[in-house]
Amino acid sequence: MRNPNFETLLFCVFWVSFALPFVVSFNGDSQILSRVKNSQLGDPNGKLRDWVISNPDQSPCNWTGIGCEARNRTVISIDLSGYGISGGFPFEFCRIRTLRFLYLADNFFNGSLSSQALSPCFRLREFDLSDNLFIGELPDFWSDNLEVLRLSNNNFSGDIPVSFGQMRSLKVLSLGGNLLDGKIPSFLGNLTELTNFELGFNPFKASHLPEEIGNMLKLEVLWLSNSNLVGEIPFSIGNLVSLQNLDLSCNFLSGKIPESLSMLKNLVQIELYQNQLSGELPESLAELPALLRLDVSQNSLAGKLPKKIAAMQLESLNLNDNFFTGEIPQVLSSNKYLTQLKLFNNSFTGKLPSDLGKFSPLEEFDVSTNNFDGELPPFLCYKKKLQRIVVFENRFSGKIPESYGECESLNYVRMGDNTLSGNVPENFWGRTLIQFLELHSNHFEGSISSSISALQQLTSLLISGNNFSGEIPARKIPDSVSSWTELTELNLARNRFTGEIPPTLGSLPALLYLDLSGNLLSGKIPEDLTKLRLNQFNISDNFLNGEVPSGFNHEYFLTGLLGNPNLCSPNLDPLPTCPRIKPATLYVMAIITFCFLLLIGSLIWFLRTRSNFLTNTRRPYKVTSFQRIEFSEEELFPFLKDECIIGTGGSCRVYKVKLKTGQTVAVKRLWGVKREAEDVFRSETESLGRIRHGNIVKLLMCCSGDEFRILVYEYMENGSLGDVLHGDKCAVLPDWPKRFTIAIGAAQGLAYLHHDCQPPIVHRDVKSNNILLDAEMRPRVADFGLAKTLQITAGDSGGGGAAMSRVAGTHGYIAPEYSYTLKVTEKSDVYSFGVVLLELITGKRPNDPSFGENKDVVKWVTEVALSLSSAECVAQIVDPRMKSSASELKEIQKVLNVALQCTSAFPMNRPSMRKVVELLKDQW
Ligand SMILES: *[C@@H]1O[C@H](CO)[C@@H](O)[C@H](O)[C@H]1NC(C)=O
Ligand SMILES: *[C@@H]1O[C@H](CO)[C@@H](O)[C@H](O)[C@H]1NC(C)=O
Ligand SMILES: *[C@@H]1O[C@H](CO)[C@@H](O)[C@H](O)[C@H]1NC(C)=O
Ligand SMILES: *[C@@H]1O[C@H](CO)[C@@H](O)[C@H](O)[C@H]1NC(C)=O
Ligand SMILES: *[C@@H]1O[C@H](CO)[C@@H](O)[C@H](O)[C@H]1NC(C)=O
Ligand SMILES: *[C@@H]1O[C@H](CO)[C@@H](O)[C@H](O)[C@H]1NC(C)=O
Ligand SMILES: *[C@@H]1O[C@H](CO)[C@@H](O)[C@H](O)[C@H]1NC(C)=O
Repeated sequence: MRNPNFETLLFCVFWVSFALPFVVSFNGDSQILSRVKNSQLGDPNGKLRDWVISNPDQSPCNWTGIGCEARNRTVISIDLSGYGISGGFPFEFCRIRTLRFLYLADNFFNGSLSSQALSPCFRLREFDLSDNLFIGELPDFWSDNLEVLRLSNNNFSGDIPVSFGQMRSLKVLSLGGNLLDGKIPSFLGNLTELTNFELGFNPFKASHLPEEIGNMLKLEVLWLSNSNLVGEIPFSIGNLVSLQNLDLSCNFLSGKIPESLSMLKNLVQIELYQNQLSGELPESLAELPALLRLDVSQNSLAGKLPKKIAAMQLESLNLNDNFFTGEIPQVLSSNKYLTQLKLFNNSFTGKLPSDLGKFSPLEEFDVSTNNFDGELPPFLCYKKKLQRIVVFENRFSGKIPESYGECESLNYVRMGDNTLSGNVPENFWGRTLIQFLELHSNHFEGSISSSISALQQLTSLLISGNNFSGEIPARKIPDSVSSWTELTELNLARNRFTGEIPPTLGSLPALLYLDLSGNLLSGKIPEDLTKLRLNQFNISDNFLNGEVPSGFNHEYFLTGLLGNPNLCSPNLDPLPTCPRIKPATLYVMAIITFCFLLLIGSLIWFLRTRSNFLTNTRRPYKVTSFQRIEFSEEELFPFLKDECIIGTGGSCRVYKVKLKTGQTVAVKRLWGVKREAEDVFRSETESLGRIRHGNIVKLLMCCSGDEFRILVYEYMENGSLGDVLHGDKCAVLPDWPKRFTIAIGAAQGLAYLHHDCQPPIVHRDVKSNNILLDAEMRPRVADFGLAKTLQITAGDSGGGGAAMSRVAGTHGYIAPEYSYTLKVTEKSDVYSFGVVLLELITGKRPNDPSFGENKDVVKWVTEVALSLSSAECVAQIVDPRMKSSASELKEIQKVLNVALQCTSAFPMNRPSMRKVVELLKDQW
């Protein structure tokens, strides 16, 4: 392709057509700059405000982003990096003949780059377009002058052009993070001046790292992470004697680590993790005097850790996830810089060097899943920096060293599955920064120190399967556990704890998992525990007695209650029923009761004719409360009449009930075919019952009998978003900032369901009518009648989702794929949420007749968006009832983009809800 005549020709064409009419002077340059700005650049932040020609001799030298030669005041550089500028590539800048440096990184420039448009830029020495929105193939750069070319983080695709091999002066070539999908060409080996070769994160065709790489003798940075490299690392890599950073991580490289690496005396960092390298770690790496970081994790390396390598003064040594064996050389502990040591998932044996940490400022220490034995090294925290100590699944024995109790920096501890024993050091329980404390399956004994209450950031306390005894600390210190506001997991199972279950456990606000099974606990189950909203609850195999509190009187909890011989329940089989009254008082009571029953009996007889609630002389319904409530179901019944109806749905009516306490609740009564109502009731109680999130409606309690089912929720003053946007009530229409807050809140609620619930929950009926608004217009996702938990089975993660027997959801919100695949995935909710975003923007219902025949809001908006620029599109579709300022319109434009991504026809192209939250929150 390349020949000099072509270059000359382009050059001439260019000058004839553009340059001749202009005098080469800085006043001409100001005109070029100002014209480009006015005609081609979008500058929403007004960064180029001062690019104004106020007199005919205006010099551009003090304009923002312009750099001039000091002596003759000619423009030499333009640097608009990070100004938020948009537009196509402003190739006219290159008509400034003296321009040598053009930096446009981190903006919103888009479109493709043609070789021809770029040809005037042949004089540039440095050219930076990284972090923009360019697409298409890479253009040719016919330039002998170019020294720095940065095009990373765009969407360039296709092959690397042959002309790239001919830029003789090129020192920096940075193409990382694009969509380049050809092979990595060997002709790049001709770029012998290169210092930086950065091509990582491209979907290249499987390629070998070209042997010719060895010609780049001046290379300092070689970055080819995530580049589909296969085969061996070429021996010629040993020629790159200036190399400082070698990063070939996350590829498919195989074979051995070449011995020739030991010639690269300037290497500071070796990143070879996540490949398929095998063989041993070459001892000759110890000859690299400058090396600080060595990461060969996630390969198939075997053999021992050579003594000489252990003796190197590294900052981090990551050997995890390999097949290493043998002992760790004592000399490792002499290292003065080691902060990170990761040896996990290997087959190392023996004792760890006893002085480990004595000279090293260790922060992260992970030797889990090996065959280490002996005692834990006592000096790990000697330099007071240790944050993570992870030693689970080994055969460590003896006590936890007393010195760990003084380790104030510690925040993550995992020691499970060893044979550690003795008392845990008193101070260790009270290391205030600890978030995760796992000691399970060892032989620890003694009691939990009350100082544990100081662990205010604790999320998990997992100490099951030991010989801990004494009481669960809470009584001495009544407020202690309630300071654990972050605790989600508390597992004290299979120990020898005695005494009663402290009622204060009931006030742990975040607790989801409580296991106290297999201990010696006695007394009654504290009523307070029913305030918890647990995913898992197990207090089986203890010596608890008395009546199961009504909140746990549900089959759902049964297995967690078994094995307590003296526990009784009015209705849970096989627990014995509770003896009501002692024989001594029985006689007196009997008379009173007889009279009382007579009275009640006639009352019931009377009521029965009017009410269908009490159809059974035994307690006719089951009540489960999910929150602290101060009312009984009986108080609700009189309100379930037509006057109190605030909404009706397919198979339910919703009533507003004002309680004696002043609290208002919403009561949903389910009607309809029995099976269907039962399904809705079950899915609502099972999903909602275990959720706690500020953007999800609170289910307070439920109550079901043979003939009726009711669900009680907190009352939401402002009704649903659907009412507010489309209702004909005189609702106050929310302005854009309110709508935007509603969008973010609802997105957070859904993200919680998808990403934080285990198993994840798909709502299946996301729509504006199911997003409720409280008094402050804060949104809560409601109506889980169709919700499904996703039990992704192995091998199904690709296709994903559970197949449904029929289409569920609401017309206008249903994702297109769902109607034919009947597969439920989180992505169907994302689609529906996208429709809600469009409702917020347009104020129109999803099936507004004004869209025309067979069109819904998604089709309508997509068509407008395709035919107009984004700003014009917003102007056309935005809810006219909302008077939006210019800056609000900008924000609406961005939300619109998110909505369009969410409603993509292809589930794969829709972002996850977590990503949606991020996108919505981004940059405002
Ligand atoms: C640039 O220089 C001109 C005079 O040459 C002056 O009027 C103007 O205020 C200067 N602008 C800035 C931003 O310094
Ligand atoms: C300005 O000075 C630079 C270097 O000193 C030189 O390369 C350039 O040709 C000069 N430009 C003009 C227009 O004189
Ligand atoms: C570049 O982005 C603008 C909006 O900033 C858009 O109007 C234009 O169509 C885009 N051009 C290309 C070629 O994608
Ligand atoms: C770049 O490609 C990614 C992945 O295919 C896509 O998500 C993104 O929208 C593209 N961006 C542009 C500006 O084309
Ligand atoms: C690379 O250099 C070699 C030797 O100088 C030459 O034969 C070859 O054509 C060059 N390759 C390219 C693509 O320029
Ligand atoms: C342990 O490392 C080996 C070798 O890299 C790997 O195959 C295996 O998946 C790892 N195990 C775990 C649990 O990550
Ligand atoms: C607990 O202590 C008993 C008696 O000392 C012993 O038999 C048992 O193995 C210990 N259990 C654990 C898990 O250490």
